[in-house]
Amino acid sequence: MAREMTGDDYLLGTDVAEEARLGFQHRVWASKTTELWDDAGFGLGDTVLDLGCGPGFASLDLAYLVGPRGRVLAIDGSQRYLASLARMRDALGLAQIETRHAELHALELEPASLDGAFARWVLCFLAEPERVVANVARALRPGASFVVLDYYRYGLMALSPRSRAMERVATAVEESWRRAGGSLDVGGDVRAMFERHGLECAPPRGGPRAARPGSALWQWPRLFFRTYLPKLVEMGLIARADADEFERDFDAREREPGAFFLTPPVWGFVGRKRS
Ligand SMILES: C[S@@+](CC[C@H](N)C(=O)[O-])C[C@H]1O[C@@H](n2cnc3c(N)ncnc32)[C@H](O)[C@@H]1O
Repeated sequence: MAREMTGDDYLLGTDVAEEARLGFQHRVWASKTTELWDDAGFGLGDTVLDLGCGPGFASLDLAYLVGPRGRVLAIDGSQRYLASLARMRDALGLAQIETRHAELHALELEPASLDGAFARWVLCFLAEPERVVANVARALRPGASFVVLDYYRYGLMALSPRSRAMERVATAVEESWRRAGGSLDVGGDVRAMFERHGLECAPPRGGPRAARPGSALWQWPRLFFRTYLPKLVEMGLIARADADEFERDFDAREREPGAFFLTPPVWGFVGRKRS
């Protein structure tokens, strides 16, 4: 049974620091995201769903892409995030963005009403992702595409030179997701889910990316773990000593010539609805 989510109670929380992290994360992943939107053919005049939009950093980009005659339907379970997006929308004059509060498992969408749909780092939180994929697939017009970005094999994340603490932390993160009802392996199921619901899936793009110390991609996990390591300790999934060793390893690699961070694999999928 899906966990009912009515507010701001999901795993990562929705406070100001998490919202800022999502803004940074969006910038780091914006070019990969735009490539997928291009593959999907999103463009002027389209009606596009941003499923689990959060504070809507991608919704704003989509609004520019579809233009004033298009429409972005931005849906999330967090009232706080939606209010934040509504403020940005109004400040930027992007009236084509419509915000809607909903629990994604209970989403009501008009059949064949969408020219495109997008869900980035959302399916991994859902207890029943297939129910949501099926619902979105029904809402797409023939020929329209669903773009999904999500994790598969999160535990492949690594530092070079190797950090054992990072491996323990990666396993703990995966377990924390499972306990909350989600899965950081959901990306491995997207292709099959698409096919079962009438979406023809192109070969996925993505995988692990190598980040050099100091780059934006390097800062991305640092920002996440600054808030998430204490949570893992609180949940009893790692010891305080593991968290300290993890931070020490990251600091040491930052100063080491030739060191790199291999990101957790993020995969991009484009599923096109069969006519
Ligand atoms: C990691 S954030 C990603 C936000 C945005 N897609 C992005 O890429 O920046 C995940 C979002 O999914 C929303 N979410 C997670 N589970 C949900 C559910 N069951 N119903 C509604 N929203 C949910 C959260 O509120 C949060 O805004």
